[in-house]
Order: sequence, then structure tokens, then C-alpha cells
Amino acid sequence: MTFPKQFVWGAASSAYQIEGAATQDGRGPSVWDMYCRSPGAVYDGHTGDVACDHYNRSAADVALMRQIGLQGYRFSVSWPRVMPEGRGRVNCPGLDFYDRLVDQLLSAGIAPFCTLFHWDYPYELFCRGGWLNPDAPQWFADYTKVVVDRLGDRVKNWMTINEPQVFLKWVHGEGQQAAGYRHSMVDQLRAAHHCLLSHGQCVRAIRASAKMPVQVGWAPCAFMKLPRSQSPDDIEFARRASFAVANKDVWNNSWFYDPILKGQYPADGLALFGGDMPTIRPGDMEVISTPTDFLGVNIYWGDPVEPLATAPGGFANCKLAPGHPQTALRWPVEESSLYWGARFISERYAKPIYITENGLSAHDWVHLDGRVHDAHRIDFTRRYLRGLQRAIAEGADCRGYFHWSIMDNFEWGQGYKERFGLIHVDYATQKRTLKDSAEWYQTVIANNGASI
Ligand code: FCB
Repeated sequence: MTFPKQFVWGAASSAYQIEGAATQDGRGPSVWDMYCRSPGAVYDGHTGDVACDHYNRSAADVALMRQIGLQGYRFSVSWPRVMPEGRGRVNCPGLDFYDRLVDQLLSAGIAPFCTLFHWDYPYELFCRGGWLNPDAPQWFADYTKVVVDRLGDRVKNWMTINEPQVFLKWVHGEGQQAAGYRHSMVDQLRAAHHCLLSHGQCVRAIRASAKMPVQVGWAPCAFMKLPRSQSPDDIEFARRASFAVANKDVWNNSWFYDPILKGQYPADGLALFGGDMPTIRPGDMEVISTPTDFLGVNIYWGDPVEPLATAPGGFANCKLAPGHPQTALRWPVEESSLYWGARFISERYAKPIYITENGLSAHDWVHLDGRVHDAHRIDFTRRYLRGLQRAIAEGADCRGYFHWSIMDNFEWGQGYKERFGLIHVDYATQKRTLKDSAEWYQTVIANNGASI
């Protein structure tokens, strides 16, 4: 069985994780540049200053993507590279880089999927309060206009924001990612509301500036809950748990999906957050729910769930058996995650979806024969894709799959310790080596998934 005819086989990256060239050609600082300088913040003092030097090597990198046969490439634009202070002045050489990249992709026959924000927030705007500032949505819309004015005659597929849950929780809630502050729930929810408004303003700005018909979406995390058995009750239970707002934090799906796709915050979350909620002004929910064309979801694993004996209706993650398979980052391998993720999300929101990220960290190295034998990545991806194929066969409207990541890169707080790429990067020499998984993926793409 193959995948649908128009299915897009892709891979993904983000600006700060691969570009390097941190001060080249007038790029301004982002919160990640500053955070990497805080002692002890990032593994072994690593920074994204050089990363994969993709900024200077994009032509060769796109040639490798072409060799793999990618049909789509998801990348992000670095806001402070385009606007060094985050607003006002535009840095033309920064914008030129994305212009070149888009042309390189198009001439390689690869569709660009552009994300406008993947965590590298301009430091200057952070100093003005960042997402907490009520002007944040306007700043984001103004930046969007600059990018889309330039690329909107060639880029068809756009995503506004990557994984708001992660940067809101880790950045604002726990202080464990850039910029490293802990905020109250009041401030986290306020930042989340501004983030949702920014998404809506961004969708409007894309549509207003694009010079061709566009497809607009975003790329939140999907934290899926999995049924512990195939019984209808367990399936229904996992579905409800997947969309519940059960804890006083922003680590859930519905708080971000419902406002955008249903025009309202979920009732259980409103009840739980109560007095911590920000003021919702008239018109806010209309902006937030500005129509989108697709929902991108990033799925790495799901958690099997069971009822909580102590709280009726409550759920807890099932305890995994000792030795349960896990990736190098100790994320569990749950091969049904894409199946249930695609199915539950399509059923609830009735929107076309893309898997905008999925993959694993493995501690790969170049073997004596000069090749990178990453059998784990092949097996993991096969298992997950089989689930996705089943979901599609049963009716989920999934339009594409973007493996995270095209190449090894700067894995945020973990630095270069974790390797997620289809392409191995030797950071000392910047040599690229296609891993076995890249060659395997090449075959999968060529036969539209028949070989998984
Ligand atoms: C996601 C991020 C992405 C990458 C992967 C492993 O949460 O969006 O940048 O770090 O995890």
C-alpha cells in the first residue's frame, strides 16, 4: 500500500539550530544567543554560533536534500536575522539569505515550507517584555509582512509558530530554556494569549502580503495519549485524555488548538485556570481563529493512559515496563503515536494535517567503513510511518510527513550531544555524511511509502 498521490515526503530544521553565522551580515541577537552565554545553561557550554554553518553552505545542503529526493523542506526564518532589533529596521542581507534558499529549493524541485517563528525571539523585543507585551502580536505581524513581501511570490506553504507549548512552558514556566526566567501562571497565560493573537495576526499578514495562493497553518506539539488496549472504552478514554486540560500548566493540546480551530478556550481549562486568566478583549477570539488551511503537528511519542483510581474521570500515564524501548534522549518509542495522533486530531478538528516533526535522537558516529549505520532511526521511522499509513487508510487527511531533522544540529539545552539528523554532521570539519537512514528514506520517497 502506498501513501496518497500528493503526499509530501519532507524533512525539517530550524534557523537557530543549523544556520550558525550568529553575527554575520548584520544579524541581531536572539534570546538563544544570550541564553547560551549563561553559565551552565546549555550542555557543555555549546552555542548556536556556528552550528552547521548552513547559512554559508545552503547550496550544498540543498543538493543533499535533492539527492535524498525530498519533496518538501520545512525551515524557519530567524526573526533577528531579518530585523536585528525585532522591529523597524530591516536587514537586507539577512532577508537575501532566505531568498536564495527558496530559489535553491525550488530549482531542486523541493517545496519550501516556511515557519516564521521557531523560538529564536529577538533579544531587543524580549527586553521589552517579549510575548508578555500587548504589542507582541503587532510586532510579529510587522515582521511577517517583511518576510512575506519578499518570499510570498514563491513560497506557498507557511507556518506561523512552532510548538508554543514548549517555549511557553520551558521559557516562561520553568526557566529551563531561553531566556531562562520563571513566570507565574498569570503571566504564562497572558504570554500564551498574546502568542495565539500573534498567530492570528500572522495568518492575516501572510494572506494580505502573499502574491500567490497560499496554505497557512502552524506547528504545535501534539501530546497524544494512547489507549492501553484496543477496547472501545480505552480508545474513548485516551481520546478524552488527549484533549483534556488537566494540569495547571500550558503543556497540553486543547489550550492552543481549540482557540484557533474552534474560536474558544476549552471549558475545562477555563475552570482550572480561573482567576489566572488574562483579559480577553472583544474581537480577540476572532483574530485567533482566523481561518487556517492546515494543522501541522509535531509528534515524537504518546503516553498510554489509564484511569486514576483516586479521581473520577482523571487519568495517569501507565507505568512502562522496565527496559521499554527508548531513544538516546530517553523518549519512549511508542510506534502507535502517529496512528492515534493523526486519527484523534483529524476526528476532532476535521482539518488537513501534516506531521511537521517526528524523529529520534541516536548517538550516531561515522563507522570504520566511513558510513553511518543508524539502524535505530530506520526501524523507529518505519514503525511510526506504518501507523500513519494506517490512519490515512482509515480516513485521516494527512498530507505530508517531515522527518526531524534533515541534519544533526544544535538540540537546544542538549547542545550537540543529541543527533536527530538523516545527515551526519562532523562539527569540527562541517563534513556531511548521509546516514543509512537517508538512503533508506530515499527509497521510501521513491516508492511513495510502499516499502515501509
Ligand atoms: C521539538 C523542536 C525541534 C527539535 C525537536 C527534537 O520540540 O520543535 O526544534 O528540537 O523537538
